[in-house]
Amino acid sequence: MIPKFPLSRRHFVLLGLSGLAGAIAVKAGTAHMNYQVQALYNPKRDFKVVGQAALKQRAAAKGIIYGAAVEPEFFQSNTGFQASFVRDCGMIVPENALKWHELRPAPDKFNFARADWLAEFARTHGMLFRGHTLVWNHALPGWFKEFVNRQNAEKILIEHITAVCKHYAGRMHSWDVVNEAIEPEVGRSDGLQNSPWLDFLGSDYIELAFQVAAEADPKAMLVYNDAGLEYDIPKHAAKRIATLKLLERLKKRGVPIHGLGIQSHLMAHESAFNPKKLRAFLSDVASLGLKILVTELDVIDKQLPADPTVRDRMVASKYEDYLSVVLDEKAVIAVLTWGLSDRYTWLSSFNPRSDGQPVRPLPLDSNLKRKLAWNAMARAFDQAPKR
Ligand code: G3I
Repeated sequence: MIPKFPLSRRHFVLLGLSGLAGAIAVKAGTAHMNYQVQALYNPKRDFKVVGQAALKQRAAAKGIIYGAAVEPEFFQSNTGFQASFVRDCGMIVPENALKWHELRPAPDKFNFARADWLAEFARTHGMLFRGHTLVWNHALPGWFKEFVNRQNAEKILIEHITAVCKHYAGRMHSWDVVNEAIEPEVGRSDGLQNSPWLDFLGSDYIELAFQVAAEADPKAMLVYNDAGLEYDIPKHAAKRIATLKLLERLKKRGVPIHGLGIQSHLMAHESAFNPKKLRAFLSDVASLGLKILVTELDVIDKQLPADPTVRDRMVASKYEDYLSVVLDEKAVIAVLTWGLSDRYTWLSSFNPRSDGQPVRPLPLDSNLKRKLAWNAMARAFDQAPKR
């Protein structure tokens, strides 16, 4: 828990910024208190935005796609949210509707209804549509454990990917073909994460998934998607190395992979962010001929001060600092936030604040009003080099 500031706002002004920053840094003895002061009271950080353009327009002006994750029910229950989404977003990704446990009520059944609703919404509103995710070790249906085994796993995986990719063929901008398959802490030499697919099919399940997806939908961009690649901490550094090795292996074998998805669930309390190292990683990925997508961007604010004004400034700083580094790499072609409004975020249930305050991770607040995070993203798109 971050201690409350010991001084009132008035004191801040009286003391002057530099003396204060030093005082707090000494007192707290940690970099992120300085970071807080910098984010809170840096007069230069005004998050000013020029013009009235929406996020998708600012992104498109630089050849970047901006979109967000959503569930059909968020639209169906809220026309105001629909309008906000259509205004700012050029792409839709179903948050859950294309996962196995939603698509596959039984081994011999598919239920595309919820994802079809979103695909049709995207089509009628001139938006792109992206799929998440064909192969993952989570979100598997209840029957999976009993029904799938070493003998039938390959057939079931091929059937699933073929049916789902053919169902959306020609309508799908890109697929997260495989999600979160790397975990160096498991200790394997190839850095792979534990997964029923790895158990049943060996490490070639990844290559198989991409081959089958390419045959079923030759038009879709095929992406490997993962998290925990963003910070200058040992766990993320190891993951960047293992992920790059996987991408190199797949490219060397001529596997039809076209992009890397970097989920980018940022941690506002994490100050170990090294732009140089992140840029170097992005450049290494791009040098393989791959595109890069920021696929699930949001900012986890659970360890920030309760005051929404304080939190919004710090969250906005994270958005702008991160995107200004990432968008400097021209292979980055898309940015998707994992939700658009604080009213609908996975973090409310998966990463709630211990003080019970509502989380504030996304560009719009729960009343669909723009926050400084919106400004921060707009500024990052405006300042990004054109693709
Ligand atoms: O729809 C059912 C509902 O009928 C039921 O009453 C309720 C209670 O069990 O569960 C509902 O399903 C939940 C679903 O979200 C929709 O809310 C699942 O239990 C829950 O596990 C699922 O969580 C999703 C999670 O992935 C696991 O699939 C989150 O919404 C989603 O934001 C999260 O997204 C993941 C990405 O796919 C991969 N990257 C990380 C990211 C965050 O964890």
